[in-house]
Amino acid sequence: MKEWIREKRLRTRSENGTLSMGELLSELLPAPKLVVLRGDLGMGKTTLVRGIAAALGADSKEVTSPTFTLVHEYKGRKTRLIHLDVYRLETERELEGIGLWEMAEAPDALVMVEWGDRFASVMERADAEIEMTQGETENERLLRVRW
Ligand SMILES: Nc1ncnc2c1ncn2[C@@H]1O[C@H](COP(=O)(O)OP(=O)(O)OP(=O)(O)O)[C@@H](O)[C@H]1O
Ligand SMILES: [Mg+2]
Repeated sequence: MKEWIREKRLRTRSENGTLSMGELLSELLPAPKLVVLRGDLGMGKTTLVRGIAAALGADSKEVTSPTFTLVHEYKGRKTRLIHLDVYRLETERELEGIGLWEMAEAPDALVMVEWGDRFASVMERADAEIEMTQGETENERLLRVRW
């Protein structure tokens, strides 16, 4: 297992709260980085990516779930934001096929992978992980960022 050195815990109580965490997270995790996003369906992984897109100067309205398309790329001021959802992938070969490892080596890319924790190979090479869990109320989310 990965040994993370740093950890930060955050809490949000609304979708907008999660969006506004993008600023902080984009500063905490500057490109190049491979970031795993973990958390159940509907916890807000895609919403968080939308917030990061806005913080990087990309058009955040464009940010939609790459559930079927697998990879979306957005152009920020200095950073390319590459957003993947590997929920539907089964094998290492499929990961290679979508070019994940090349993306992870790009010097200007922040690569964020929803459901990346389904693959040991992704966890091994990840620079950070963000875990989102349900808080006490319906719209509350707890984030644990480790890097
Ligand atoms: N605090 C919150 N942060 C983010 N989303 C929230 C929050 N409270 C409620 N929501 C709602 O939860 C949903 C989060 O959806 P989102 O697509 O971001 O989740 P996801 O983790 O990417 O899911 P999936 O695993 O299906 O891709 C949205 O409908 C959003 O309005
Ligand atoms: Mg999603």
